[in-house]
Amino acid sequence: MNAIAYHLDPLHGLAGLTVRDQELPEPGPNQVVIEVRAASLNRRDLMLMDGIYPLPATPDIIPLSDGVGEVIAVGANVTRAALGDRVTASYFVRYVSGPQRLAHVAEQYGANYHGMLATYAVIEEDSVVHVPEHLTDVEAATLTCAGVVAWAALTTPVPVRPEQTVLTVGTGAVALFGVQHAKMLGARVISITSGPDKAERLRKLGADETIDRNETRDWDEKVRELTDGNGVEHVVEAVGLPTLSKSVRSAGYNAMITMIGASQLPKGQTLENPFVGPYLGIRRIAVGSREDFEAMNRTITEHRMRPVVDRIFPLDQAVEAYRYFRDDNPFGKVVVTMS
Ligand SMILES: NC(=O)c1ccc[n+]([C@@H]2O[C@H](COP(=O)([O-])OP(=O)(O)OC[C@H]3O[C@@H](n4cnc5c(N)ncnc54)[C@H](OP(=O)(O)O)[C@@H]3O)[C@@H](O)[C@H]2O)c1
Repeated sequence: MNAIAYHLDPLHGLAGLTVRDQELPEPGPNQVVIEVRAASLNRRDLMLMDGIYPLPATPDIIPLSDGVGEVIAVGANVTRAALGDRVTASYFVRYVSGPQRLAHVAEQYGANYHGMLATYAVIEEDSVVHVPEHLTDVEAATLTCAGVVAWAALTTPVPVRPEQTVLTVGTGAVALFGVQHAKMLGARVISITSGPDKAERLRKLGADETIDRNETRDWDEKVRELTDGNGVEHVVEAVGLPTLSKSVRSAGYNAMITMIGASQLPKGQTLENPFVGPYLGIRRIAVGSREDFEAMNRTITEHRMRPVVDRIFPLDQAVEAYRYFRDDNPFGKVVVTMS
């Protein structure tokens, strides 16, 4: 078999992605080696490429945090995985559970620890996560980053309750997982998007109400109208500062706004003071722990949930997959398959 790995030389755009032969790695005592079957792209992979991610990419790193594969070798001390298991890795190499600390986020697959865009990947045992059985490899390769951050937004520190309303903003992968997770948790979902086609797809995915932000510029007023003037209890803010003010005005008393999106304000625009309205929480989170991932997988399994996949590329077209992801505004995940 011709094993290959992509390597990222950051700050060179797509030209910084090069492909080389890959040797079969030997696992250390607490590591497993997987033969990767599929991997998927996230916004952070473009940010790492452009040098604007908070953690700089190590030059020559194998990119991508999200991927799934079959365990083909286990280290001498490994007990959490066996040969033949279908597994992925949690986003952070060493964040198993509990409140996140700075040390937890210091090592990340595809940033400063080799990732999934390769024939083989080495995973630290503590970060091994078994994937839901009903998912295809392609679907299972979409969960690690966008899936877990949306899950953590809706379940930590206090899970969304069925009588509550969740607002999702945008139709990137995080927002789509936000819709699906919120529905699995039994909540009502209102989703903001940019046109009728996406609105229709959001409703098919489970959104109870959608608002086209191009048609209804003051969408926060519509959200309040749909919630009898009360506002929503949770916001999955998957865009960022450009939509934060409206998210704040859509939120009810003691609501939680989880800022996941990293978009900055357009030049010349200033941010409205978000602390003059109702009493509410605004927080930023970074993905989640391995235990968050495992809890999400249990719920996905129970509900037979399937992530949204936009397009699949073969491994030898991985650069094209990056280009498509960057330029073509996909609805759902962009996945690279290895065979
Ligand atoms: N903190 C974390 O752990 C974490 C993890 C994952 C991702 N992120 C961040 O979360 C964000 C979402 O990532 P993603 O990959 O899911 O989605 P994405 O591709 O960044 O989202 C794009 C979508 O957001 C909407 N949008 C973009 N600009 C907008 C604007 N100015 N006003 C209103 N809507 C706008 C559009 O949806 P419509 O056309 O439907 O309106 C667009 O299709 C990114 O900033 C990413 O870096 C953070």
